[in-house]
Amino acid sequence: MRPTIDASPLVHALPRIQPVAIETSGALGASGALGASGALGASAGSVGSVAPVASDATTIEATRAPGSPSVLFVDQSGQLGGAEFALLQLAGHCAASSEVVLLSDGPFRTRLEALGARVQVINDARVSGIARQASGWNCLRVLPGMIRQIRAIAARAREFDVLFLNTQKALVLGVLGKPLHRKPVIWYQHDILTRNHFGRVQLSVVKWLVRFAVDQVVVNSQASARSLAALTGIAADSVPVIYNGIDAAAFSHVEGAEGAEGAGGADIGALRRRLGLPADAWLAGLFGRLAPWKGQHVALDAIARLPEAHLVLVGAPLFGEDAYAQRLREQATALGIADRVHFVGFQDDVPAWMSAMEVILHTSTEPEPFGRVIVEGMAAARPVIAAAAGGVTEIVQHGQNGWLVEPGDVGALADAIGTLRADPVLAQRLARQARDDARSAFSVEQYLEKMTQAIRQAAR
Ligand code: UDP
Ligand code: GLC
Repeated sequence: MRPTIDASPLVHALPRIQPVAIETSGALGASGALGASGALGASAGSVGSVAPVASDATTIEATRAPGSPSVLFVDQSGQLGGAEFALLQLAGHCAASSEVVLLSDGPFRTRLEALGARVQVINDARVSGIARQASGWNCLRVLPGMIRQIRAIAARAREFDVLFLNTQKALVLGVLGKPLHRKPVIWYQHDILTRNHFGRVQLSVVKWLVRFAVDQVVVNSQASARSLAALTGIAADSVPVIYNGIDAAAFSHVEGAEGAEGAGGADIGALRRRLGLPADAWLAGLFGRLAPWKGQHVALDAIARLPEAHLVLVGAPLFGEDAYAQRLREQATALGIADRVHFVGFQDDVPAWMSAMEVILHTSTEPEPFGRVIVEGMAAARPVIAAAAGGVTEIVQHGQNGWLVEPGDVGALADAIGTLRADPVLAQRLARQARDDARSAFSVEQYLEKMTQAIRQAAR
């Protein structure tokens, strides 16, 4: 969940939503069948900036696999959040027959281009800066910029079969241009749509766009689907759940961590030294952007109760939460644990960092829509302690493949860490099951297959 846009003044009657006919998937052990997918290949990329460039539709026609629809992906962020990692895999897979429009520049563009994706940045500083709680007046002020972006996205969309919108701001701008581009629209909903996170105006914009203009919605968890159903009245079980896919192989082949399940593999010391971590300390790792609802402050309070444990915070404030990051440092100092808390910033090599931990924590204080970091910790064969709300309970079964605690409950989190620390056999059993479940239920293959199928369906 990240800042997005309110655009009620722009909402007007648009074509009606099509019924969705993709089978939904269930949680662990109850996967849905979406049928065969098409391989979409990979190709070279080019960069655009600010204004739309001329069509390159002929190149796309020449390189894409027969029968697979061409796709214009749109994402509002240049930063690497979970929604962007999900799109990275898909856009890389579809590179030969797609293009990505970003509404802000940043490291996400570089990562997409490295996979051969064609990327354009269509940026407007005012629109990017609008807050999710923005008033109607603020929306009017950004109207000219929004109209420019709507037109620019529509101009690109005309060259493709399907418009795939990956974030809420992309949803608003992509859908409002539908009278101009007239292409089917698919939205991958990554958020739990409640007032805890989003303004009233924003939720109502999403509600009306989904009801009247989006051809197909797919969601990242059943929890996200339920929030959509509550908002729009659409039946939750009619919305396909497509879980993110995690590359388990990347998490199981970390140099220096082979064979290390749970606490203490033979070469963990060397791995930790390479990463600049204390070789002999007992390390709990918390991965994710620094943001109040991700609950890093809860983890600090819990670690303060466990004198021998260290906490490694991996991640940075990606969406303007710098004040929270500063408060976390002050909290660590005030608690007298600054020497046991390691702020290491954003890291690219998450598999290595996860493999260096004894336990992985997830501490979101609000329901997590999905939680890639949880599945990644599982794929790394580490015991995961997670906050039991939202999509998390579709991933973790308490005492089977991980450990669940009430969100925001410092005592319960400290107890859980203490329990797994005191019982390495239990920790290892959870970690083994976790690794197997991550492989079987959250593979990249299932993700790409279902997504490809959903895109084909939207193109019809
Ligand atoms: N991540 C990363 N480097 C970091 C911290 C996080 O690459 O330093 C990645 C992490 O591996 C995960 C993603 O960021 O794939 C976060 O996704 P998640 O769904 O857990 O949370 P979101 O930020 O999307 O709410
Ligand atoms: C969003 C959600 C996160 C989810 C990710 C990928 O960023 O906050 O829970 O894992 O999207 O779907």
